[in-house]
Amino acid sequence: MRRAIYPGSFDPVTNGHLDIIGRCCKLFDEITIAVVVNPQKRPLFTVEERQAILREVLPRVEAGECRLTVDSFEGLLVQYAVAQEAGAIVRGIRAISDYEYELQMALMNRRLDPRIETVFMMSAEAYSYVSSRLVKEVYQLGGSVTGLVPAAVEARMREKLGRT
Ligand code: PNS
Repeated sequence: MRRAIYPGSFDPVTNGHLDIIGRCCKLFDEITIAVVVNPQKRPLFTVEERQAILREVLPRVEAGECRLTVDSFEGLLVQYAVAQEAGAIVRGIRAISDYEYELQMALMNRRLDPRIETVFMMSAEAYSYVSSRLVKEVYQLGGSVTGLVPAAVEARMREKLGRT
């Protein structure tokens, strides 16, 4: 059983995240999409809302035989991965600028627990500039985010932030 954790803030989930999950499904039997609980951040959506949105949009992913689950975690990611009996952490890389920070985290996680491998996945070029942060900013300033996030996410942002 090849089990992986795909951790992140997912505030909110974008089509770039879903693209990464779809690609991972070819490599793993089971992937847990794990929303981090970070009291230092002020997210747009609560952890519960982010999990609910993920559960709503995951059926859009062509998962094949891969089982997708949604969870949240607090504390060290590697400890959570071990507790879940996962062998790998998946992170998406959009551009070389992501790589430095991701490498730092991957090496720190390896030092903390060498049993857990980090797997970097390259997102589709079409999503190479898409981030949750930019999606929120563009939406809040009145721009269109159609095609960058699932329609369900747009609907939730509309509920949360207003706008027709
Ligand atoms: O979507 P994000 O915000 O880029 O995800 C960052 C995340 C959740 C992967 C990172 O903040 C994390 O792993 N947090 C858990 C705490 C931890 O293990 N810190 C040490 C990482 S080297």
